[in-house]
Amino acid sequence: THDPLNGPQMSNDKKIIEGRVLSFDKNPFDKDFDLSSLKIQRKRIFVIDGIINGIEEANFNRSDFNNIEVMDYGEHLISAGFVDAHVHYPQTAIISSWGKRLIDWLNVYTFPEEMKFNDLNYASEIANRYLNFSLSSGTTTVASYCTIHPESVNAFFEAAAAYNMCVVAGKTCMDRNAPEGLCDTTKSAYDDSKALLEAWHKKGRAHYAITPRFSPTSTPDQLSALGALWAEYPDCLMQTHLSEQVDEIDWVRKLFPKARDYLDTYETFGLLGTRGVYGHAIHLEAREIDRLNEVGASLIHCPTSNTFIGSGLFDIARLASRSTKVGLATDIGGGSSFSMLRTMACAYEIAQLRGIALHPAQLMWLATQGSAKALHLDDQIGSLTAGMAADLVVLDLSSTPAISQRSTRANDIWEELFPTIMMGDDRAIVATHVAGEKVYQRGVI
Ligand code: GUN
Ligand code: ZN
Repeated sequence: THDPLNGPQMSNDKKIIEGRVLSFDKNPFDKDFDLSSLKIQRKRIFVIDGIINGIEEANFNRSDFNNIEVMDYGEHLISAGFVDAHVHYPQTAIISSWGKRLIDWLNVYTFPEEMKFNDLNYASEIANRYLNFSLSSGTTTVASYCTIHPESVNAFFEAAAAYNMCVVAGKTCMDRNAPEGLCDTTKSAYDDSKALLEAWHKKGRAHYAITPRFSPTSTPDQLSALGALWAEYPDCLMQTHLSEQVDEIDWVRKLFPKARDYLDTYETFGLLGTRGVYGHAIHLEAREIDRLNEVGASLIHCPTSNTFIGSGLFDIARLASRSTKVGLATDIGGGSSFSMLRTMACAYEIAQLRGIALHPAQLMWLATQGSAKALHLDDQIGSLTAGMAADLVVLDLSSTPAISQRSTRANDIWEELFPTIMMGDDRAIVATHVAGEKVYQRGVI
């Protein structure tokens, strides 16, 4: 028998999933994007072995799918599953910790909690708790930092594999400016990262990311060792933090007096590249923006974290329109919600404060294909087309009375969807599918 929560898929396993389908074949941030090119109507998604084999009109029958039961979601909206491009799963239990800005928040709340992850049992408990919160929020892929402990990495990849989820993760490396129990060394950071990378990268749906936490917590030696490791494994991602808070940037300037700017502290040590994924990137200088564009690096917008920790307003209009790739993320536990709906709402609010009204199509794109592109996974996830994994979320656009009374008077799908983006939460998530399998259903524990 086949346990739906514990892959691997049996071969020639077929599924049919039906509902209103939203998928992008163009980027709604492009100047010539035409909204009318997006036809959202009831369709039938044919899935073989977890991969979308075809998408047809609703009620279309295929002879090779005779006797396969249709999972019909009616008028609910089926989207590619949300892709949360920057999280710290070990911070799940300290979400919503009061009253601190970045550096104090790290020292007071984050580092003491991360110390506990040398215990594989605790790491597994939190990894499973975190993934359950994500799946019940419609998130099917996450890119997570772990802690300095290899146990925290093994626990996370094992938990994700049990759901057959496509995930990115890596051992967080720190060898200074953190408590003694939370520091590795140049050598152990390199050796442990390499061993974990060899063990997990491209094993099933796992992807390893080399993960220096940020330049203040790594010595130049450690940064350069991780730069060398990335050069040995150039198909891996490298994830870190960049220019999140003004005090942090001042600190970086003192720690690296020769660097031109924050980005330079990465580039000097081989940690700038196309497959580099830089979280926050709020207070960038013109040179940094130009250089990031030149390289084609990825920036991850973490709106609920940026307001919660008081970091600043990401410049989405300036950054998403150039060759920089931009993804969207919760940044658990600096972020205040596991939900990418709430995260899209906050991205909308931040853009409004900068004088830009993001269209619901742009918000949905950021949360799916934008993040998938930023993680270089858009050949597998982030859109619903033949050849992609059947990782999807089913959204109820009338999940509460307050949302329903607004969406029912809408004139088009975007006006119908927008109240769910702004006001929706886990009650709007009807079901979440990973590689075709239903791994979450509303109302079922
Ligand atoms: N910068 C370095 N580490 C962290 C972290 O854990 N969270 C956030 N928001 N910023 C960081
Ligand atoms: Zn972070």
